[in-house]
Amino acid sequence: MKAVFIDDYGSADNLRYGEAPKPDLKPNEVLVKVDYAGLRWGDVMQRNGFPSRARPTPFIGGQEATGVIERVGSEVRNWQEGMRVMATPTGGAFAEYVAVHPSRLQRVPDSVPLEQMLAYPVNMRTAYYMVYPWAKVQEGDRVLLHAAAGGVGLLALQILKRKFKDVPVVAIASTQEKLDLLKAEGADHVINRKTQNYVDEVLKIWGPKAQGFQAGGLQQGGVDVSFNGVSGDTLGTDWQVIRKRGRWVIYGFSAGRGLLDTSKFGYDGITVMPFSSIAWFGTPEYEDATAFIGEWLETQELIQPQIHPLADMQATQRAFERGETIGKVVFRV
Ligand SMILES: NC(=O)c1ccc[n+]([C@@H]2O[C@H](COP(=O)([O-])OP(=O)(O)OC[C@H]3O[C@@H](n4cnc5c(N)ncnc54)[C@H](OP(=O)(O)O)[C@@H]3O)[C@@H](O)[C@H]2O)c1
Repeated sequence: MKAVFIDDYGSADNLRYGEAPKPDLKPNEVLVKVDYAGLRWGDVMQRNGFPSRARPTPFIGGQEATGVIERVGSEVRNWQEGMRVMATPTGGAFAEYVAVHPSRLQRVPDSVPLEQMLAYPVNMRTAYYMVYPWAKVQEGDRVLLHAAAGGVGLLALQILKRKFKDVPVVAIASTQEKLDLLKAEGADHVINRKTQNYVDEVLKIWGPKAQGFQAGGLQQGGVDVSFNGVSGDTLGTDWQVIRKRGRWVIYGFSAGRGLLDTSKFGYDGITVMPFSSIAWFGTPEYEDATAFIGEWLETQELIQPQIHPLADMQATQRAFERGETIGKVVFRV
């Protein structure tokens, strides 16, 4: 079968499209014939060996795939050949077949195309947790959204604009095409991070922030919440636009790790909230997110992903890392 290998940890140069044997099926596994595989920033992190280099290379990359069950192991109950499913393995999804334990499977509703499904189970779960149980966004909150045209960002914007009546959003992205999309999705203000200084722009939109010791408890200017999946230099600047007692959700590092110096905003009472979906496994909120996504898939207009051939993995990951892709990126297998 065709597959994309990570030959060694590091840059996209280490990706190789080649031949692999069809996976052996264990009695407690299901074999999925893959139609589409999804790309997430987590694939870039895995390729770079973050958070772990424990898996010996080479191995087949890919952590989400949709397709149809081709075979079911002898110990597996409740899953049948022909079912449309999404698999979320820890690797192996960038291939024509993937064998997974049923705990890593979910049904794809009949009404949802396989390529569109990939945008939701992981990315929307992330966006859901951040908006609801973590940041607890309320009507009237002003929100700053970095990488707003990305896989997670676009869904966070859609939740804020479709599920709330009055949550003004300022959305950041790096191209005019992305800014146009964000406007069309309801962003109240858009900022091009490459051509504009986002701190200046946010303070122009919502006024200068009352900050520091002298300002006491005055809550003026800036935003109530920043959703920051990029980190890097923005860890040195976001606090300048987050108002007193605001929330700073940090959920990723697509611009690098960055440095956070809390002494800069020590008198502003900003709550710094590093986020991970992993931390919600097995909680009631996990079930809430599942129900939210299920309802969304049935009732909302779904994202149309950018689709590339699996053979273009290397070029596509490079474009993804340069911030040149929009929304969800998937591969036709
Ligand atoms: N904590 C969790 O549980 C969790 C779960 C899922 C995802 N995540 C994180 O969420 C973030 C988004 O993931 P995603 O898969 O949806 O990726 P994505 O947002 O589609 O892609 C990353 C985006 O980051 C932006 N970016 C800003 N500064 C950048 C820079 N210096 N270099 C490269 N890109 C830069 C780019 O958009 P612009 O160029 O338009 O700014 C780029 O499109 C990632 O950091 C990921 O690790 C976290």
